[in-house]
Amino acid sequence: MTSQETRATWSSREHTQPMQSTGSMYTRHHSTLSTPRHTGTQPRNSYMPTRSTPHQTSTHYPRKRTEAKRYVIEDFRQAFERKGMDLDTTRKLGRGKYSKVYKAVDKNNNRLVAVKAIDVLELTSDVKNKFLPREISCWRKLKNQFLVGLHAQYEAQNMIFLTMEYGSQGDLLRYVQDKGGIQERKAGLFMSQLMRGLQYMHSKQIAHRDIKLENIILFDNCVKLSDFGFVRQVEQNTMSLTFCGSKSYSAPELLRGIGYNPFLSDVWSLGVVGFVMVTNRMPFDEKKPNNVIVELQRTRQYVIPQTVHLTVSCISSFEAMMTFDAKERPSSNECLALPWIIPHIEMVDRRSG
Ligand SMILES: Nc1ncnc2c1ncn2[C@@H]1O[C@H](COP(=O)(O)OP(=O)(O)OP(=O)(O)O)[C@@H](O)[C@H]1O
Ligand SMILES: [Mg+2]
Repeated sequence: MTSQETRATWSSREHTQPMQSTGSMYTRHHSTLSTPRHTGTQPRNSYMPTRSTPHQTSTHYPRKRTEAKRYVIEDFRQAFERKGMDLDTTRKLGRGKYSKVYKAVDKNNNRLVAVKAIDVLELTSDVKNKFLPREISCWRKLKNQFLVGLHAQYEAQNMIFLTMEYGSQGDLLRYVQDKGGIQERKAGLFMSQLMRGLQYMHSKQIAHRDIKLENIILFDNCVKLSDFGFVRQVEQNTMSLTFCGSKSYSAPELLRGIGYNPFLSDVWSLGVVGFVMVTNRMPFDEKKPNNVIVELQRTRQYVIPQTVHLTVSCISSFEAMMTFDAKERPSSNECLALPWIIPHIEMVDRRSG
């Protein structure tokens, strides 16, 4: 493919920013704590956070990349240059199952952006025809300071480029892997920002369905939810049947393969994120069979290392989010009043005002 061809088929759509909404009191939260403590520094039942693998049932797998296509990105670097954007193809910011993310400088306004490059030829038909169109159409509607904002969409040949806000500090998984567990207070601030972002999405009837540390991006003064590849717009009481996301972060109802309320399963996943942030451990081992994990979830058999000191407010909050029975689990709106989150909400809202 030549640069000329690239230029000929290039199309774009611009998107703009801003934001958001409110919360109410949460009342159903349990006061007794059930998370066991382990006496060793490396508890038997604890798992270091790693990049998670998708469900077997997921249709999100890429096809094999061919050697020849590797050079195509250079054509696009030139095409971006003609649009006044300097795409850095020497180093990836990250990669997902079917995309690569690069950094670029938009010389038109001197802004740093992240560019998600998707090779359409690598996608399964489900991703191409269902998940990707949903990702783009829902993402365009989402404008909130705690959700990574989509700037523009460019298409050329068999590539789709999504330009978005650039998170200078990378993703949260890498952060925890590099620096270890996050101090409870700082993690509480992050949780309140993520919960605000999630509550905003849910208020638009959009569920995320793939909340995990690698899909949370760190900016200079906040964290934002990202990767809207599994989003779904549904009525509040509609059940989902597509089992997406990662096993380690999945709510029991998902692992059991029954219809699930995607808004409440998002709350469970964010509870897992909270747990991992403060403990630097995964609560459940995704290598175990689903029925075993479900039983561990039901009996709350996750372990906080004894070296990690957490307050009752923190533990009771992620335990409330990880309530086994979805009907008893607080909504994202109710979670704003959890004791680990509520102290930060006023500050979070003041900034957005
Ligand atoms: N805006 C951004 N700023 C900085 N880094 C980013 C940004 N967006 C994504 N990344 C990096 O790229 C990685 C992959 O991005 P993203 O999760 O959007 O892709 P994906 O293909 O949908 O991933 P997957 O489906 O595997 O979760 C992220 O985990 C993160 O490390
Ligand atoms: Mg991702």
